Amino acid sequence: MVTTVTLNPCIDRMVTVEQFTYGGLNRIKDSRMDVAGKGVNVAVVLHQLGGSAFCTGINYTERGQIIRDFLDSKGIPYDFVDVEGEVRINLKIFDMSKGVVTEVNESGNPVPPECLAKLMDMIDTYAAGSRMMVFSGSAPKKVPVSIYRDLIEQANKYKVLCVLDADDELLLNGLEAGPYLVKPNLYELEKATGKKLATHGEIVYAARTFLDKGVSIVGVSMGSQGAIIVDENEAYYAHPVEVEVKGTAGAGDSMVAGFCVAIQEGTGLKEMLRYGMAAATASVMREGTLLCTREGFESILPRVEIEKIE
Ligand SMILES: Nc1ncnc2c1ncn2[C@@H]1O[C@H](COP(=O)(O)OP(=O)(O)OP(=O)(O)O)[C@@H](O)[C@H]1O
Ligand SMILES: [Mg+2]
Repeated sequence: MVTTVTLNPCIDRMVTVEQFTYGGLNRIKDSRMDVAGKGVNVAVVLHQLGGSAFCTGINYTERGQIIRDFLDSKGIPYDFVDVEGEVRINLKIFDMSKGVVTEVNESGNPVPPECLAKLMDMIDTYAAGSRMMVFSGSAPKKVPVSIYRDLIEQANKYKVLCVLDADDELLLNGLEAGPYLVKPNLYELEKATGKKLATHGEIVYAARTFLDKGVSIVGVSMGSQGAIIVDENEAYYAHPVEVEVKGTAGAGDSMVAGFCVAIQEGTGLKEMLRYGMAAATASVMREGTLLCTREGFESILPRVEIEKIE
């Protein structure tokens, strides 16, 4: 089982307007709501690929039922720490005339220290029965930036492989606990290492600086430019797969899920990159927030071209 930990669940509300007027009245033509925490996305992709996923982390007393109903509808089990307050809503305004999305994101209601202590107990409870544990996404207000480090240190007491996908201080602190796998995108890797990374050689070098912290594998996603994976001995580059891109939401989360499947199957590093790319590509091929299916994943797998980086 793969347990995903979502600290900052959210609901995406996408509204479509014909032409966005700054400072004026905008009439909504169409709207939709999607459950969208990063760990939830990873669990959905794992489940759709045929794996067994479990969701834990933080949920809220208000609107939290929307998240539970969503997971129930998918058949994904969960156990969250319920915090007083509302699940945040991230508003996305799609301007049809320009084809541009404006995002207005809430930062997430504060989590009291006693709830963080309960979360630590959840890690104890579920790390013992999990093969892998995925820690991904932002943290709500007032949660210390050391949170992923603390949670991963706790999980590392068990025989579970930890995966970290986070940004800025959450990433830098989390690395200190030596997660097994880290998946920064290129921008996150540049920020973490303080360097502009122009060549594949530079990316490999920067990614390997994480290995000094006890990390075993680093997967660097590069959006439309493909991805790179490194461990201590080898490095590979995957070319982007040419498909019609219909929605990039959850692309990185899908790559994480693909990596998890590969680790569980013991594919080795090169195939792991293929699995991650196939899952991510199969997600971007689907409209809006729809994520990778097993059929999409299998159809892309043979199309991923991988080169060894010497
Ligand atoms: N525009 C695109 N065209 C083709 N493939 C894409 C595109 N965007 C993303 N992908 C695929 O998805 C993978 C992950 O994308 P990206 O690097 O944007 O992740 P991310 O920034 O972590 O995303 P997220 O917002 O989900 O955290 C890429 O390596 C690639 O395989
Ligand atoms: Mg990401």
